[in-house]
Amino acid sequence: MNLQLTFIGMVVAAMIAPANGQAKVGCQDSCGNLTNIPYPFGTTKDCYYNEEFLITCNNSFTPAKPFLTESNIGVTNISLDGHLHIMQYISQDCYDKFGTPTWNNQPSITLSKFRISSTENMFTAIGCDTDATIYGYQGDREYASGCMSICESMDYISNGSCLGIGCCQTSIPKGVDSYDVTVGSFHNHTKVWNFSPCGYAFVAEKDTFNFSSSDLSGLQNITELPVVLDWAIDNVTCEVAKKNSTGYACKDNSRCINTDDVSGYRCSCLDGYQGNPYLPSGCQDIDECKDPKLNVCEKVCVNTIGNYTCSCPKRHYGDGRKDGKGCVADQVFVFKIIIREERPTMKEVAMELEGLRMMGKHPWINNDSEETEYLLGVASETSRFALSIDTMTVYDSIRAPVAVPIDGGR
Ligand SMILES: *[C@@H]1O[C@H](CO)[C@@H](O)[C@H](O)[C@H]1NC(C)=O
Ligand SMILES: *[C@@H]1O[C@H](CO)[C@@H](O)[C@H](O)[C@H]1NC(C)=O
Ligand SMILES: *[C@@H]1O[C@H](CO)[C@@H](O)[C@H](O)[C@H]1NC(C)=O
Ligand SMILES: *[C@@H]1O[C@H](CO)[C@@H](O)[C@H](O)[C@H]1NC(C)=O
Ligand SMILES: *[C@@H]1O[C@H](CO)[C@@H](O)[C@H](O)[C@H]1NC(C)=O
Ligand SMILES: *[C@@H]1O[C@H](CO)[C@@H](O)[C@H](O)[C@H]1NC(C)=O
Ligand SMILES: *[C@@H]1O[C@H](CO)[C@@H](O)[C@H](O)[C@H]1NC(C)=O
Ligand SMILES: *[C@@H]1O[C@H](CO)[C@@H](O)[C@H](O)[C@H]1NC(C)=O
Ligand SMILES: *[C@@H]1O[C@H](CO)[C@@H](O)[C@H](O)[C@H]1NC(C)=O
Ligand SMILES: *[C@@H]1O[C@H](CO)[C@@H](O)[C@H](O)[C@H]1NC(C)=O
Ligand SMILES: *[C@@H]1O[C@H](CO)[C@@H](O)[C@H](O)[C@H]1NC(C)=O
Repeated sequence: MNLQLTFIGMVVAAMIAPANGQAKVGCQDSCGNLTNIPYPFGTTKDCYYNEEFLITCNNSFTPAKPFLTESNIGVTNISLDGHLHIMQYISQDCYDKFGTPTWNNQPSITLSKFRISSTENMFTAIGCDTDATIYGYQGDREYASGCMSICESMDYISNGSCLGIGCCQTSIPKGVDSYDVTVGSFHNHTKVWNFSPCGYAFVAEKDTFNFSSSDLSGLQNITELPVVLDWAIDNVTCEVAKKNSTGYACKDNSRCINTDDVSGYRCSCLDGYQGNPYLPSGCQDIDECKDPKLNVCEKVCVNTIGNYTCSCPKRHYGDGRKDGKGCVADQVFVFKIIIREERPTMKEVAMELEGLRMMGKHPWINNDSEETEYLLGVASETSRFALSIDTMTVYDSIRAPVAVPIDGGR
């Protein structure tokens, strides 16, 4: 019996687990270290939206290696918010102490549909005799930019920030679809060779590279850094796509977002939904009540489709929200708890009851008519309550009846 239950548990887990798997049903959703290949991406014709979203999984590597389309661009992460992470080689320019070049490379990248993210990446150059340039294209338009860094010693080099001494940075414009990076020098590093024998330059995801003075001599070991690409679907705006009954990629419970950095549009699940907006029935209701971080209910949370509501338990009132009125206990209820916990003398009980009656007659400070009615209700309950006190037994609604000693002693 136990075994059977475990087995069912495992099947259920297996059915739920591929929530990570946001691929089309029956499609491969991982390749080596890339553990999430969400639709519109896919590894075969039936699995991707179109050839632009092909991920080629090369199994001759261990672990298998995923590449963007049929290029040599390795993919490390794909997210449905329109970002895709790749690894790119850094450009290096190294010399021996006599100024003879020992190593120089100029990596380049060419994308067909996607674009280098202008918001997520920076162009960075490192060295003390360094002149770095990025040459690129924004569609048909050529562009070039770069920065230089010259320094005579390690003094004034601050760790953790790229402020222009030993390290300089510039941003990437929108819409770049290809670039190459070159690094050169002014004096072949001869004047600074003992602490800066190389120049380096790269486009990389912001904040993944933390500059430190030791990088001037020690960056040789880093050969690749992550670069973020922007992706979108189709090459029309949301407005045009929505008019095309067969060509609109955003499915139920999702919205369409126009992009200004890459041609096309993106889809995103509506608030209160999660999943893959590109798949039919991809955006599913979030049960906000299951995760305390997703709701602001103080006591009772009820999930609804696309949202949730808060309420209060029996004998409490309020909106149930931590950021609102919360749940306030019914006065009689509070009173009973006082009796149980403190075992008051009869005199105290009588005073409390008198107090409650007074409150019943003189509604509380709040003039809300609904609340006033409610309080009148409390007042009538109070008299019933008093009756049961007379019979020397207070009925505690939570537990068993509580006996109140006649002498009022503790
Ligand atoms: C894959 O992940 C492992 C473990 O995190 C790591 O050691 C390895 O370098 C990664 N391989 C590639 C190709 O990124
Ligand atoms: C996989 O990688 C190997 C080695 O780089 C290469 O020779 C082969 O053509 C690749 N296979 C595919 C399907 O791209
Ligand atoms: C991939 O991206 C997603 C979404 O941005 C992030 O949550 C996840 O940690 C990333 N995975 C890796 C291995 O970087
Ligand atoms: C300096 O480096 C350049 C290449 O970067 C090379 O052509 C030149 O010969 C070098 N000069 C000396 C003096 O080694
Ligand atoms: C910067 O960090 C390196 C090690 O990464 C350390 O050797 C050096 O002393 C640090 N410099 C300053 C100014 O903190
Ligand atoms: C970068 O390094 C400095 C010290 O070298 C450290 O104080 C800082 O927290 C690091 N920043 C990041 C984002 O890792
Ligand atoms: C770079 O790698 C070499 C050998 O591969 C090693 O001796 C050296 O300590 C490494 N440098 C850094 C800064 O990690
Ligand atoms: C993009 O739109 C143009 C017309 O504006 C069309 O000729 C081209 O085929 C479209 N490209 C793709 C990949 O859909
Ligand atoms: C509508 O979408 C389909 C499928 O993506 C596409 O083949 C067709 O060209 C689109 N029609 C128009 C008018 O954009
Ligand atoms: C959920 O309901 C609250 C009010 O109860 C509202 O403020 C909020 O905007 C709703 N959220 C969504 C996603 O509809
Ligand atoms: C309640 O109503 C009375 C008269 O209608 C008014 O004088 C008093 O200020 C109100 N109190 C509050 C707290 O609104």
